[in-house]
Amino acid sequence: MNFLKRQTYMDYIWWQKGIIYQVYPRSFQDSNGDGIGDLQGIINRLDYFEWLGIDAIWISPIYPSPMADFGYDISDYKDIHPIFGNMDDFDKLIKEVHERGLKLILDLVPNHTSEEHLWFKESRSSRTSSKRDWYLWKDPSHDGGPPNNWLSVFGGSAWQWDENTSQYYYHAYLKEQPDLNWRNIEVQKAMFEVMHFWLDKGVDGFRVDVMWHMIKDEKWRNNPANPDHKEGMSPYNSLIPSYSVDQPEVHEVVAKMRSVVNKYDDRVIIGEIYLPIHQLVTYYGMAQQGAHLPFNFHLITLPWDAREIALAIDQYEGALPDQSWPNWVLGNHDKPRIASRAGLEQIKVAAILLLTLRGTPTLYYGDEIGMQNVNITTKEAQDPWEKNVPGIGLGRDPVRTPMQWDNTENGGFSTGKPWLPLPENYKTVNVKKQQEDPSSTLSLYQRLISIRRKEKALHVGSYVPIPQEGDLLAYIRKAEGASLLIILNFGSKPASFRSEQVKLKGKILVASDLSKEGQETEEIIAIGGNEGLVIKII
Ligand code: GLC
Ligand code: CA
Repeated sequence: MNFLKRQTYMDYIWWQKGIIYQVYPRSFQDSNGDGIGDLQGIINRLDYFEWLGIDAIWISPIYPSPMADFGYDISDYKDIHPIFGNMDDFDKLIKEVHERGLKLILDLVPNHTSEEHLWFKESRSSRTSSKRDWYLWKDPSHDGGPPNNWLSVFGGSAWQWDENTSQYYYHAYLKEQPDLNWRNIEVQKAMFEVMHFWLDKGVDGFRVDVMWHMIKDEKWRNNPANPDHKEGMSPYNSLIPSYSVDQPEVHEVVAKMRSVVNKYDDRVIIGEIYLPIHQLVTYYGMAQQGAHLPFNFHLITLPWDAREIALAIDQYEGALPDQSWPNWVLGNHDKPRIASRAGLEQIKVAAILLLTLRGTPTLYYGDEIGMQNVNITTKEAQDPWEKNVPGIGLGRDPVRTPMQWDNTENGGFSTGKPWLPLPENYKTVNVKKQQEDPSSTLSLYQRLISIRRKEKALHVGSYVPIPQEGDLLAYIRKAEGASLLIILNFGSKPASFRSEQVKLKGKILVASDLSKEGQETEEIIAIGGNEGLVIKII
């Protein structure tokens, strides 16, 4: 293969041109009144995806699980948790998704299992168990304490003492989530078999959980202290995880996962990776044989500031290896919602940014109607992170509340008591109301998505930054002679935009302020506070 060959339009595949929508299944749609979303619920809402215009649905884990970490602790990789339905429901879901021309992406959690998984039960049964080496067992250090200083992301030591066999096992997350030993070939084989199982069923790809955690330092060296750690920050961040994550050998494992999906047509591997840009892009792999899309979370992790984001876009564009495909994520089930982070007044600017940058956008359910973090009382708290490390805002329940569909009881999510409460505002902030209102955030998303599909410049075009100052961010997207100019105002003050670099005569295709759509532009473009414009240059 000639890696220097430029892609032609026909070469672009669905996960490059398309838009991914993340469904958190517990909170999307309940179909049987138990207060928890399920597969039939997702099936009942497929019309919505078609109306919105997205291409692929990624569903967070739906497998059997004791739910210590709400499905990210899996006890059987090849079945469905009864709370979500059964395998027939899954088969029906994938069939109906495909009939509508949509794709289905599953969450794969290879770094750790549940402590209830048969593999772990076997592994912990004795030191001589055939599966002992499937997990990370270690003797105590000289003083009798844990083998090293590594911390669990969810609080406390990452080592759990096992009375029965007098060794510690490693868990990057909860003690109920023991880490698998990915240096063991048997473990690799078992997980690749799981991938085959779902790929054979027709799933279109995987979002791979905590990909950068999968291999740990072979010498188990202590992590260094983080000099920038302050009170109020997560205790996990008191150390820099130099030895526990992002180890060079992880790329061999990722390449093997990639070769599993390479046996099938057009399937995708997306990696969950929280790393700075230059480390992140290494996950595309040698000769692009790593993850197709290492998730780029910089719109989530950076302050909502035009200058910081403009810089990150350029750094990312500049760091991308040849032939690798960019992507952008605005929200997910682990991080504060965009409407709360950036403020309600910025949600339309955020929508335009996400859907006009170069690369595959991933949209988190509810962000398209501007759902905010919902205040969850201590009594209502469900998330183990909040329970282990309370009171400093680490809990993820606020971003996992039920989808607000309409103004009926429980927002149309469930006829029973929802597992997490809906906020008061669901009566006014909901899908139905916003679908009927052309000036709503949801209607803007729908228009943007439809324009993104129509305009090659947006879904596959090149990216050219137009340097700005202050609160403005501007760039051009270009393809086959068409140029689209995007101007975003991250601040609340009106501004005027001019540029030596580009012609400004054009027509506004999409605007945060609906009344501006269709207007023509001249040499100076006035842009209101908190406003975003997509202009077709003529
Ligand atoms: C990922 C998931 C998160 C989960 C963790 C452990 O970060 O997104 O929800 O708690 O992995 O599996
Ligand atoms: Ca249900």
